[in-house]
Amino acid sequence: MNTTSGCLAAPGLLLLPAGKLASSGNPGWQAFAKSWDDMPQDTWMADGGTYRRRRYAAFEVQGDRCERLSHRPHYQERDYNPLNGGVERWFAPISGDCAASPLFQALVRDTVALIERNACLTPRHWNVEAHQFRIEARPDQPGLPTPEGMHSDGRDWVLVLLMGGSGFTGGETCVEDQSGHVLLKHRLSEPGEALLLDDKAVRHGTSPVEAVQAGAPAWRDTLVLTFAEAPAS
Ligand SMILES: [Fe+2]
Repeated sequence: MNTTSGCLAAPGLLLLPAGKLASSGNPGWQAFAKSWDDMPQDTWMADGGTYRRRRYAAFEVQGDRCERLSHRPHYQERDYNPLNGGVERWFAPISGDCAASPLFQALVRDTVALIERNACLTPRHWNVEAHQFRIEARPDQPGLPTPEGMHSDGRDWVLVLLMGGSGFTGGETCVEDQSGHVLLKHRLSEPGEALLLDDKAVRHGTSPVEAVQAGAPAWRDTLVLTFAEAPAS
């Protein structure tokens, strides 16, 4: 077991306790988390689901520099996302306040540093995509955090960080290697707890979210950051 970060769970994945990157005790956390309360529905769901809300933004990052790029569509090859891939999907932008907040900026920079340290990489440029997700469970429709099933995102690294939620059960994340051997099953439970995944080495998926109390509002909020090495210029 590699303990460079103090929290590697298996080759290709790091389980990061709350506080390693962020926690609800961080200054600015409340305002940051509250931005999850203002997200439009994802209208690109090929399964017709209405259980997902989201916002999106893209950045270029190197060292301490984290520069937001012009708003653009999110694209995944169909090989990686057979359900919703293959089309340019336009999502509402992450708010300027949220993206410029010291908490978010530090989260991105610290994750890049963690990746480079753990993968023994020299500092480099990264194309970073940020996704705010809210998955809602309804009486007639469980919320699916990963409707595409077990998958890779088609990037180099993926961070899944739990922001919070209310009244939900389920939401267990499974990580397996490329041959289907399960490496980890874990339910992120504390705000700020996160999984950092080597997207080329492992696949991931999260079980449906359901309401603890039938008929009561229930949702799960996450921040997903993907990191792709920028091509050498
Ligand atoms: Fe994913």
